[in-house]
Amino acid sequence: METLVLKGREALEKGAEYIADGQVVAFPTETVYGLGADAFNEDAVKKIFEAKGRPSDNPLIVHIADKDGLNGLVREIPDGAKAVMDRFMPGPITVIMKKGEKVPESVTAGLDTVGIRMPSHKVARAFIRECGTPIAAPSANRSTHISPTSAQHVFEDMEGRIPLIIDGGDCEVGIESTIIDMSTDVPTILRPGAITAQMLAEVLGAVKTFSGKVVVAKAPGMKYKHYAPKCETVVAADAESAKSAYDEALARGARPVIIARSDTCGLLGNRTRIDVGGSEKEICRNIYAALHKGEKIADFIVCEHFGEQGICGSVMNRVLKSAGGKIV
Ligand code: TXA
Ligand code: MG
Repeated sequence: METLVLKGREALEKGAEYIADGQVVAFPTETVYGLGADAFNEDAVKKIFEAKGRPSDNPLIVHIADKDGLNGLVREIPDGAKAVMDRFMPGPITVIMKKGEKVPESVTAGLDTVGIRMPSHKVARAFIRECGTPIAAPSANRSTHISPTSAQHVFEDMEGRIPLIIDGGDCEVGIESTIIDMSTDVPTILRPGAITAQMLAEVLGAVKTFSGKVVVAKAPGMKYKHYAPKCETVVAADAESAKSAYDEALARGARPVIIARSDTCGLLGNRTRIDVGGSEKEICRNIYAALHKGEKIADFIVCEHFGEQGICGSVMNRVLKSAGGKIV
């Protein structure tokens, strides 16, 4: 099939037509691009899994444009969930709650909970409104590949597999939403993001952060390989180890590249580098585009460790997965 890339009013109208027709449409959000289908249409939802090559036991999150969109999606809204939604929605957060009867099994992969997200991106919200139905959507990458933060990234993974990509420009936030599970007694962060544990703790009093050591993984997606570039990727603890890893790779005939913040780039001499900026927000916004570029221009990626605190901690959650946990 031909994959159209459209902008503006025409894109929204065509997108809504495809959704009504049970097709899959890629659309921008402030975090990453999503691959959407009518959340109430089982056959359409199956097409998402096919287009992505995603295992069917990995649930999808459901996107709404406003709070009325919650009707039928959740069984109840706990007080804590309401507080989180009032504070952070619309925005880069997904709240897990007990699922309502209208949500098909294929969306939640048989779980009795559902993830709800209300994006702040203007085009995302206009699209969902135009569709008049909640939109189930994972990130719009082929399963295990890097998440897309531009229409071009989506096109590279999805050309020929979906009829339409709505182009809304580059994503502002740059990594996927924070996922917080409000269906259990203690609110638990299942996936860190731009809304940090500290920010959530201000609203909830306390949250459990996902430590990586939970035996039963609650976000089923966590057990899969993720965010992987097509070439070997490692994390370097500091500028010196980044340089050594780069030089060793060069010596064995590889084409390495270093992904680093602006300050570190200044220390790299004439080594090939991709600069992701200085502030934590810039690093977050640019990291996936840097990994996409890295796998195109190099066959060995060395990414600087950006630290454990705040948003950089969330960025490193993704980068360390890209690198299969390998630190040099
Ligand atoms: O920012 C985002 O969240 C993007 C944009 C498109 O909204 N979406 C996204 O979806 O990242 P996806 O499918 O790539 O990641 C959603 C994660 C998966 O790891 C999935 O296992 C988990 O959320 N998840 C979904 N529903 C869940 C549930 N009911 N309980 C626990 N985890 C759930
Ligand atoms: Mg994803």
